[in-house]
Amino acid sequence: MAIAVLTHKPLSYFSRRLLEEANKEGVNCQIVDFKNTVILIKDGKISLKAFENGVKVILSRPKTTLNSLMLYAMFLTKTLEEEGFYVLNSFQGYLNTLDKVITYRNLSLNKIPIPDSVISPSGRMFDEMNPPFFLKPTYGSRGRGIMFIEDFRDLSFAEGRSVWIAQSSVREENWDLRVVVLGGRVIAVMKRTSEKPVTNISQGGVGSFFEANEEVKELAIKASNALKCEFAGIDISIKGGNAFILDVNSQPDFKGVEESLKINIARELIRHVCSEANRN
Ligand SMILES: Nc1ncnc2c1ncn2[C@@H]1O[C@H](COP(=O)(O)OP(=O)(O)O)[C@@H](O)[C@H]1O
Ligand SMILES: [Mg+2]
Repeated sequence: MAIAVLTHKPLSYFSRRLLEEANKEGVNCQIVDFKNTVILIKDGKISLKAFENGVKVILSRPKTTLNSLMLYAMFLTKTLEEEGFYVLNSFQGYLNTLDKVITYRNLSLNKIPIPDSVISPSGRMFDEMNPPFFLKPTYGSRGRGIMFIEDFRDLSFAEGRSVWIAQSSVREENWDLRVVVLGGRVIAVMKRTSEKPVTNISQGGVGSFFEANEEVKELAIKASNALKCEFAGIDISIKGGNAFILDVNSQPDFKGVEESLKINIARELIRHVCSEANRN
């Protein structure tokens, strides 16, 4: 069995850990930078030059800054699926979670609870939100650009070319959860605690073990199934005894989970994709 990791960051923690665990499992693993791939369209036929022969499984990580490189990487992911490779996550999974507006829309269509949200390119449209609320860019990750609005203030900076999501706060204490789902199974639940409004580990949040109840686990699995993300990092917060989805990451990093919980996510991923590829 040979697998390839297609990535914009060949030296990232994800790439390094996948390579390390694949070696331990005796699985041939290539790390391929999207920059070193080619799509050929000749006489109306589409083909690719991406990796060496023998690869059956591709762990694709097409998302990056919103630009033409990302669109190219998305199209490459789609083409690989059409060529019969087993690709994780699927193109459809990435499409369903392309940005937070699309993600929230798809969650809501599937009756999966998210906090009440107002989405607009105009700061003037957030009048009806009662502080405190979160103001987030529609395309972002790792808590970057997120503001916690505690009192009414001038939101005219949000007037312009980008789109914002004003979202009611569904936090009662200083923590929320990151749930990692793989192949319809919850493989890790991490409590993230922080004194800041955002609990992302990259923003200083501290990870610890959390014994999640069935409701939380089922919600995470439902979200990953609905969005067709076989592998997903799902942020969940609880208010008034009800769990809400804050964020679905179709391309989750797992350094925080591996380091805080001592769970070997990279090995789980390698084992999962190999057994799925052998089944098909
Ligand atoms: N509606 C909300 N209620 C409570 N906390 C929130 C809310 N929205 C975001 N947060 C906090 O901000 C963090 C980052 O928001 P998130 O939507 O996950 O964006 P990102 O893609 O940047 O991780 C969340 O993990 C959570 O700690
Ligand atoms: Mg998040």
